[in-house]
Amino acid sequence: MQADRYAVAGNPVEHSRSPVIHSLFAQSTGQAIDYGRLLCPLDAFKATVQAFAAEGAKGCNVTVPFKFEAFEMAPHRSARAELAQAANTLRFDAQGWFADNTDGVGLVRDITVHAGVPLAGQRVLLLGAGGASAGVLGPLIEARPAEIVMANRTMEKAQAIVERHTPWARQHGVALSARPLDNPGQGFDVFINGTAASLSGSGIPVGPQVLRPGTLALDMMYGPAAEAFLQWAREHGAVGRDGLGMLVEQAAESFFIWRGVRPDTAPVLAHMRALVDQPKASPAA
Ligand code: ATR
Repeated sequence: MQADRYAVAGNPVEHSRSPVIHSLFAQSTGQAIDYGRLLCPLDAFKATVQAFAAEGAKGCNVTVPFKFEAFEMAPHRSARAELAQAANTLRFDAQGWFADNTDGVGLVRDITVHAGVPLAGQRVLLLGAGGASAGVLGPLIEARPAEIVMANRTMEKAQAIVERHTPWARQHGVALSARPLDNPGQGFDVFINGTAASLSGSGIPVGPQVLRPGTLALDMMYGPAAEAFLQWAREHGAVGRDGLGMLVEQAAESFFIWRGVRPDTAPVLAHMRALVDQPKASPAA
């Protein structure tokens, strides 16, 4: 049987771990899929993905910087993609493409299942108001914490996203507000860094007063990009966590959208953890 084709579409994509994750899901569920990388020129995302679909591919994940464009392209969209105004998953349905955003549900599952930290009734600080943070706010609200503060360097961006999510927050009994980076509040139960600060190596953009002993402090990055954040969390008595679990869980939700089958994520996360934590080979070895 011919394997159905999928890919991660973005620019850059060469470092993406998604092909490994999806091939592990395919093996464990017995699904015949072939998942690759689709490098899209910055000015030709739409044409590249359309050509991929025309070759018979069934769908793709979408990564930086095309999540907003992917959302715009699809005539059918999930409610969570509508809230995020961004999509990380496209399914090439014959009756019109379907766009979804699985980042938020991936984050919530990683926190509640893998980290074992409940969100219901908790106080959550979400840092950043770019695509990453906007993409997870809807599902975070659905987990019904008592409060979510979205803090961002550019206050207007956080305000706009908070405004868009306010009816959803009211519906779920969540106190949602936007705050500036220099006054984000203190002593949160869960602190999520969705800014690009770790990537640029510019340090943690808020002070340790946002933590209390035992706060779950999660950076959406993983590997070397998350190291400084994890060390900072440890130094201040918090429990640090990187974005690897979120990556595996968002992939599992995309796999479910395409295949209708839910892969077991725990062994895949363990496999990926071993891959990412592998010490670099010593030149003398
Ligand atoms: P993504 O789609 O990955 O979220 P993005 O849309 O460029 O990327 O958003 C990056 C986020 O990181 C923004 O919230 C940005 O703050 P601004 O909205 O003020 O630009 C934040 N960010 C990037 N570098 C930062 C830094 N050094 N300190 C604080 N925030 C930073």
